[in-house]
Amino acid sequence: MTILISASILSADFSNLAREIHESEKAGIDWVHIDVMDGHFVPNLTMGPFIVKTCRQITQLPLDCHLMVDEPEKLINAFALAGASTITIHAENNPNVLQTLQAIKSAGCNAGISLKPETPASIAIPLLPFIDLVMVMTVNPGYSGQLFMPEMVAKIAQIRSLMDNNPNIKYLQVDGGINQETIRQVVKAGANCIVAATAIFEHPSGIIEGVVTLRQSANKTKNYG
Ligand code: DX5
Ligand code: ZN
Repeated sequence: MTILISASILSADFSNLAREIHESEKAGIDWVHIDVMDGHFVPNLTMGPFIVKTCRQITQLPLDCHLMVDEPEKLINAFALAGASTITIHAENNPNVLQTLQAIKSAGCNAGISLKPETPASIAIPLLPFIDLVMVMTVNPGYSGQLFMPEMVAKIAQIRSLMDNNPNIKYLQVDGGINQETIRQVVKAGANCIVAATAIFEHPSGIIEGVVTLRQSANKTKNYG
């Protein structure tokens, strides 16, 4: 199974965004991950559709938008129009989650559901037939550079087994604290799409080395091929 790497620009140098995205692209990333935070659903405040549009001008790679916002249903069209390829919303505190997922599909994007660390896998079960991606968060959403929570590995394996009955789900994504060691644990548990910010954009030897290191670790790990 091919493991996709989605590079989170939350840790990129925004004064050189195009250069940083091009460098990660040259190193072989598969997707660009855009963390959208509204200062309510999570304490941090980050990027909106304008940045997605900017990324669309910089690269042809799929744009993987992770919405950590209240009322994501109000933003779907704006993100789709800006050039999003995948839109992932959170399962928590959202009475309109199913309709929102359907709106994402109608807008022509892949639809994803994300689970915070405290959210059990069972919350996703009724939504699984309608989505393309499940994201297991391995840190509390809000910031890059946090420590991986190893107790989430069991949840990844649980979602992987639920995917056997839902072949529409193409991606089991993991987000938070991924580095050359933790990537092995999550790939072994069944993840096939890995988000990384710090390990790529703040790698001490540079972006290319960051991507190559992750890729090599993933390749060395037995996965769900
Ligand atoms: C956190 C974001 C992540 C973050 C990952 O809420 O969803 O995508 O950028 O950063 P690292 O890879 O540094 O944990
Ligand atoms: Zn994210």
